[in-house]
Amino acid sequence: MGTLNIGVIGAGSISEHHLQSYQKNTQAVIYAICDLNEARAQAKAAKYGAAKVYTDYHELLADPDVDAVSICTWNNTHAEISIAALRAGKNVLVEKPLCRTVEEALNVQQAVRETGKLLQVGFVRRYDANAQLIRQFIENGELGDIYFAKASSIRRLGNPGGWFADQDRSGGGPLIDIGVHVIDLCWYLMGRPKVASITGNTYRKLGNRSNVKNLSFYKAADYDASKNTVEDMANAVIRFENGASLMVDVSFTLHAKQDETVVKLFGDKGGVELEPAVTIVAEKHNTILNVVPQTDHKALNVTAAFQNEINHFVDCCQTGSMPISPVEDGLEIMKILCGIYESAEKGIEIRFDGSREEVVSP
Ligand SMILES: NC(=O)c1ccc[n+]([C@@H]2O[C@H](COP(=O)([O-])OP(=O)(O)OC[C@H]3O[C@@H](n4cnc5c(N)ncnc54)[C@H](O)[C@@H]3O)[C@@H](O)[C@H]2O)c1
Repeated sequence: MGTLNIGVIGAGSISEHHLQSYQKNTQAVIYAICDLNEARAQAKAAKYGAAKVYTDYHELLADPDVDAVSICTWNNTHAEISIAALRAGKNVLVEKPLCRTVEEALNVQQAVRETGKLLQVGFVRRYDANAQLIRQFIENGELGDIYFAKASSIRRLGNPGGWFADQDRSGGGPLIDIGVHVIDLCWYLMGRPKVASITGNTYRKLGNRSNVKNLSFYKAADYDASKNTVEDMANAVIRFENGASLMVDVSFTLHAKQDETVVKLFGDKGGVELEPAVTIVAEKHNTILNVVPQTDHKALNVTAAFQNEINHFVDCCQTGSMPISPVEDGLEIMKILCGIYESAEKGIEIRFDGSREEVVSP
């Protein structure tokens, strides 16, 4: 089996993780880079030795030497570029979130099914070694029946501004940007249950707090403090058809003492924490045990998780196997995210039944 020629579309912050990981994969060749910002694309091409540079993704997709693409652009372009890439015969790794709406997600899924090409969603936390370790414990019944999970991603000061703060390009604020990671991880480890109902709340109380001094935070490349159209906080309770529930709270900013990431799952035989530090909670001989797996990293190792994600993508492209984060999972997560936004907007519980999918499908 020959090596894969990779095209990376979008040469901003996250493309660096994709490019570093492709560079370390002996089966991948970084062949082409595309960005609307030509200087950015040129710089990455020079750094990673890509033969081709494009500013129009259609031209990259028309290049017959490109086998597969990583889509690392703003969220508003994920569906459009994924569909075009699949129809051009390329396999696709698309950054999270899959897209902005359920309708877009259904269109991407349809393109995957029609073309028979592969699409992997970049739910990078699934690819972390600790997540896979915990999955093994869960699959072997250590937690029993999982009935409750908790997903938090709280930034007290962390609206990145730029396109992240522009509703049209991002599709939303902390929920769709950072909430997606912890919600997906809980849902994946819960065994991907079908969502039954969602109650959500979103708040626009604090703005982007560009007035704050003495505390620095990450700013997007095109940071502009005057523009912010996304929520600054969201919370939700998601109930699944099997009776399990997931509680979520996320923020770009909040009057919290510190940033906090929480991923916890609770079953009738045991519990696990993946964040803030990997721990298993068990009961043996009438005694409660906190068991600490001995691993290199106690929490998410971003670089290693991206390497695993890219290695998995390359492997799936070469063997034709189904990725562990397929388009169907991207769609289910969009149903959850959009359900939270819809519930918050309407002030009601959103219920999912057989008829709902027909309403939104194209
Ligand atoms: N997996 C993770 O942990 C993680 C972390 C950060 C961002 N992301 C995701 O990665 C994506 C990019 O985020 P980022 O932080 O790199 O943003 P960024 O702004 O740093 O980079 C995005 C780049 O895409 C380019 N672009 C936008 N539309 C384009 C188009 N139609 N054609 C070509 N280029 C285009 C922009 O010019 C920009 O250079 C987002 O979807 C984001 O949600 C994922």
